[in-house]
Amino acid sequence: MASRRSAFEAHRPTENGEHLVSEDKTSQPPAAYRPSVQLTSMTVVVVFCSIAAIAFLAGATTGPVFWGDVPPKWEHPRPENRLKTGSWDSRRIQSHYARKDILVAMVSSSNRLSLVQSSRKWRKGMQTFIALEKPFEELQHDELPRGFKEGIEEHNETFGVFEDLNVDDPRWHKAGDIRAVMTPFMANKTIGTNNFKYVLYGDDDTVFFPENVLDLVNGLDHEMPYFMTDCIWFPEKEGDRDIYVHPDRKAPRCLPCGYEDPLMHRPWGSTVPQPSWNATPACPCTQEALCEMDNLNMFTDCNWNYWRPGFWYFIHGGAGAIMSQGLFLRGEYDDVQHYVRSKGYYGSGDSTITETIQVLLGILPTDPGYGYFRRHIQSFDPGWKGAQIKGIEDEDTRDMGNDPVGVITRLEKAIAGTCGDECEDELAHIVTVHIRNRYSKEDVEKHDLAKDKALKHVPKDHRPAVHLHHRLADLWQQYAALRIGNSTSNDMALGGPPEAGDITKAASV
Ligand SMILES: *[C@@H]1O[C@H](CO)[C@@H](O)[C@H](O)[C@H]1NC(C)=O
Ligand SMILES: *[C@@H]1O[C@H](CO)[C@@H](O)[C@H](O)[C@H]1NC(C)=O
Ligand SMILES: *[C@@H]1O[C@H](CO)[C@@H](O)[C@H](O)[C@H]1NC(C)=O
Repeated sequence: MASRRSAFEAHRPTENGEHLVSEDKTSQPPAAYRPSVQLTSMTVVVVFCSIAAIAFLAGATTGPVFWGDVPPKWEHPRPENRLKTGSWDSRRIQSHYARKDILVAMVSSSNRLSLVQSSRKWRKGMQTFIALEKPFEELQHDELPRGFKEGIEEHNETFGVFEDLNVDDPRWHKAGDIRAVMTPFMANKTIGTNNFKYVLYGDDDTVFFPENVLDLVNGLDHEMPYFMTDCIWFPEKEGDRDIYVHPDRKAPRCLPCGYEDPLMHRPWGSTVPQPSWNATPACPCTQEALCEMDNLNMFTDCNWNYWRPGFWYFIHGGAGAIMSQGLFLRGEYDDVQHYVRSKGYYGSGDSTITETIQVLLGILPTDPGYGYFRRHIQSFDPGWKGAQIKGIEDEDTRDMGNDPVGVITRLEKAIAGTCGDECEDELAHIVTVHIRNRYSKEDVEKHDLAKDKALKHVPKDHRPAVHLHHRLADLWQQYAALRIGNSTSNDMALGGPPEAGDITKAASV
């Protein structure tokens, strides 16, 4: 019964912090299992039909694109990028995007602002939207970390509010779940879709590596709807029970529109670890596109058979995701909010955002591609520690990532020049690390914490995570300077085109 119950609870089990109260829902009747699945599809149908009706009534002249329309035909706007497959040297030719094109959308809460503050180190030059449970202006002086207010303008931060949930609400896993779902949509609406090209969606303990983000999106078109990550939950059989793994290569995904890679023309099984989902490029990644790739019996007549978006097939929010401008043009904020608020069955932030993006925007996850064909590469939250199970609530889950120390070690080696080809390749394609505030104590030596003067005014609970945030950002900056060019104020560091000499230098380091 227990495993059945948790099979139903599509939750993101252990990340986020202590403020997100994790409820054990033993009272959830197992009988709710099947009916709720039907409810899911009914809700899907009802919502979809109403949207379709609204869209129809609104008149076809505005031409909203909903799931079910004939997918628009996109031409790749930069054919010269089609062949850039993502190796550090070949792809970093010219960045079409800069840091000013990036909007960081971060979910947090008022008692975790020291984590938000520590992420400023890597957020330089990008604007950030931060969703809290109450208005920032209402916070008293002593609730703010020292120096927080002074840095808001420099770091181009905007705050939004989405209240905490009643944690007794049986439909939700944690108090911040709806906020986590709404954060990128609030960010889009508040900042305005025309004022960014890509959104970096993550928690306040997720670290993005900006140079690699820019490198990754360089080959993409921001008008194409993308919901991009390679860290996706999916079920695996262990004996006769289901366990839930992230990342899992069996999780359905597309490759980016126009993606080209020398390895994709070899026999599939010889490059892609088996078993994997049979990903191919899609423009954009719709349910129909995935259905055409179906090698794992996920669909009948292009309807989901059993596992589906939101039901143990969903992105990992702590590992983060990149969303393109085009994604936000496929729907309306009010519809998203209404859909999320009126959900009638159990979910987590991760399950709900994945389901919502599929149902209302018609888009499913896209894998960056490079790592899809190379087993040593995981771009979003890689790990080298094997499967982790942290608490009782994680009993049915396996976390293959969450290895900030593994990343730190590799960065240190790279800076010392002892990292080796595979390690260099990993660093050249890493996009995020999830620190996981709650467990970060295990990742830090006590004497390192004691030595870190920057922690003096940081609440004790957050010291390990803040320390890791700083360490990762500092090491990354040194590493990026060695690989890309030295000055952080040069064009490439801020996303502009590098000098030809930088490429040569990068290639010869
Ligand atoms: C914040 O970011 C926006 C968009 O890039 C930019 O127009 C604005 O000038 C920035 N503000 C500051 C204070 O840097
Ligand atoms: C994105 O923001 C625009 C306003 O810039 C808004 O009209 C639109 O509804 C938003 N899209 C979604 C999916 O929330
Ligand atoms: C770049 O930095 C490295 C190490 O910090 C240094 O040895 C090198 O001279 C610098 N190169 C330039 C062009 O400044």
